[in-house]
Amino acid sequence: MNNQDLINITKEFGSPVYIYDSERIISQYKRLINAFKPVRNLKINYAVKALSNLSILRLFNSLGAGLDTVSIQEVKLGLEAGVDPKKIIYTPNGVSLEEIEEVAEMGVQINIDNLSILEQFGSRHPGVPVCIRINPHVMAGGNTNISVGHIDSKFGISIHQIPHLMRIVENTGMNINGIHMHTGSDILDIEVFLYASEILFDTAKNFKDLEFIDFGSGFKVPYKEGDIETNIEELGEKLSARFNKFCKEYGRDLSLAFEPGKFLVSESGKFLVKVNVIKQTTSTVFAQVDSGFNHLIRPMLYGSRHEIHNISNPGGKERFYSVVGYICETDTFASNRRITEIKEGDILAFDNAGAYCFSMASNYNSRFRPPEVLWHEGKAHLIRQRETFEDLVHGQVPFQFETQKAKKMSK
Ligand SMILES: Cc1ncc(COP(=O)(O)O)c(C=O)c1O
Repeated sequence: MNNQDLINITKEFGSPVYIYDSERIISQYKRLINAFKPVRNLKINYAVKALSNLSILRLFNSLGAGLDTVSIQEVKLGLEAGVDPKKIIYTPNGVSLEEIEEVAEMGVQINIDNLSILEQFGSRHPGVPVCIRINPHVMAGGNTNISVGHIDSKFGISIHQIPHLMRIVENTGMNINGIHMHTGSDILDIEVFLYASEILFDTAKNFKDLEFIDFGSGFKVPYKEGDIETNIEELGEKLSARFNKFCKEYGRDLSLAFEPGKFLVSESGKFLVKVNVIKQTTSTVFAQVDSGFNHLIRPMLYGSRHEIHNISNPGGKERFYSVVGYICETDTFASNRRITEIKEGDILAFDNAGAYCFSMASNYNSRFRPPEVLWHEGKAHLIRQRETFEDLVHGQVPFQFETQKAKKMSK
């Protein structure tokens, strides 16, 4: 997909628009599989939350991946995409027992992350195999908003509560078939991750009927040239060896599971916007685009960096710009970024727009959510239409007020 292809996509589908390159998704998936080749049973469950378009789920299904889901709606999207319920794991946080029971009935693997629901679910359905999410209290992620393994985190069952957990398992007679952790996004240090894995192995020894150990995700991808990324190949080599050794000690071959989102789809995506206004103030040159944090919230939500390229003038002279949106609040995509000279009407391409971009988009300011396009085998395919005014009013039930005039007349 070159710059001209991207410009053509904006001509065909308008702007703003999301575009995903299937080849990049496939190559990331293969990279992960290759890194863990020494493990006999590897399960990659794509984290639906990152990008939940049905065509993307179908692509992962065609590759043989399973799905990691956090809501019953994500489970239903997976089923709609044709994924076998046995290949879906459901890892909710703080949802009702009723929702968990409904998902269990669909034949999906349940993962429970608190003792209260574990006890209630185990008492009512001792025959349903359950995975448990452990909190190893290791902070492997780089950003506090997306680090979930630390001591104050609301996620998982604390390793300090293992005795309590074991009492629940014994009293209910439930079957624990998996053990899970997810320490948070942006793993920078493999040794820290391996340390958390040791805690998981130690915990696993308590359960005699395990089928899999799920190491969650949090692989960091690069956002700019020279950026640190999780060294998947090194992690694969080290963790595979340690996992195989553990299986020997355990006496059985278990499956090793991961549930990456960002690693698989982040770099496949680009977000294309058009520059509406160039506004020169006394201190800054703003490039105001036809989008805002309603379509891509990550920079405003947790300071994420997305590289921005002016694909209408790639060879131009570089200048400093603040790229901002059209939302009625501070809405900054990038401050004082070096970008090739921008004119009104130019198309800007945001990198790393595959994960947590469209899936976090909203209708704030009553704007339509953009279309999504899949670039597959050299062609652009529309996989979600741009919303319309009908979508904005769909589901609303207008209340009929009596006018003041009608009120007076009825007196
Ligand atoms: C339980 C769980 N698994 C997997 C993921 C996917 O993480 P990432 O996109 O960093 O791979 C998340 C992200 O929030 C998560 O909470």
